[in-house]
Amino acid sequence: MKILEAINISKSFKKPIEFQALKDVSFSIEKGEFVSIMGKSGCGKSTLLYILSTMDTDYEGKLYLDEQLITGQTSNQLARIRNEKIGFVFQFHYLLAEFTVLENVMLPAKKLGIKSLEEIEADAMHKLTLLGIQDQALKISSRISGGQKQRVAIARALINNPSIIMGDEPTGNLDSKNADTVFDIFKELSEEEHLSLLVVTHDQDFAKRTDRIIHMEDGRIKL
Ligand SMILES: Nc1ncnc2c1ncn2[C@@H]1O[C@H](COP(=O)(O)OP(=O)(O)OP(=O)(O)O)[C@@H](O)[C@H]1O
Ligand SMILES: [Mg+2]
Repeated sequence: MKILEAINISKSFKKPIEFQALKDVSFSIEKGEFVSIMGKSGCGKSTLLYILSTMDTDYEGKLYLDEQLITGQTSNQLARIRNEKIGFVFQFHYLLAEFTVLENVMLPAKKLGIKSLEEIEADAMHKLTLLGIQDQALKISSRISGGQKQRVAIARALINNPSIIMGDEPTGNLDSKNADTVFDIFKELSEEEHLSLLVVTHDQDFAKRTDRIIHMEDGRIKL
């Protein structure tokens, strides 16, 4: 089953001058597939991820998530789809520094507003346990290590049981040991939970160990 499908996605920035950042990008990701995107700085990786994650709606082409057409949905619908179906992990974790680890992980589930606080807290503890940092749950987020913060960010991305995790250089800010840990967690999620992952990386070793590498060049997928 296709979790994500991009069909002929093109994107131009109009300012300061017209510039086509994406040209006819088409690909799909199967359930449980772990895919990396590589390419030189400026080739369009973040621009593409921004569209795939439904944040940017100003593009040509079509995007499907879980076989649902995303293109053309209202911003309210998109916010809901995003919160329900997509987990994000960025280079910098964007945790709320003054909140506890547990509160940070619970946040997207509270926003979704389906489960009770007790259920959400239990789910959050379960995700933290999955990532081996349950002992950090009650610490203030600014008082844990960089590698731990990134694992909290992954736990937070998982809280609503998304269909896909998207990452823009999720290991870019980590030393090789912590980057390996994050890789192993992603691999396990894809193999054991059949979660799909799409991760932009500059790290060759990381990319080589994923199921498939999408190479980009000048706004296109290189075949
Ligand atoms: N808001 C914007 N307005 C105009 N041009 C932009 C904008 N954002 C990005 N670009 C241009 O689009 C191209 C693709 O940028 P993008 O951020 O997607 O690159 P990238 O592949 O993620 O690079 P990096 O590896 O450095 O993160 C670049 O040439 C960039 O200058
Ligand atoms: Mg980028």
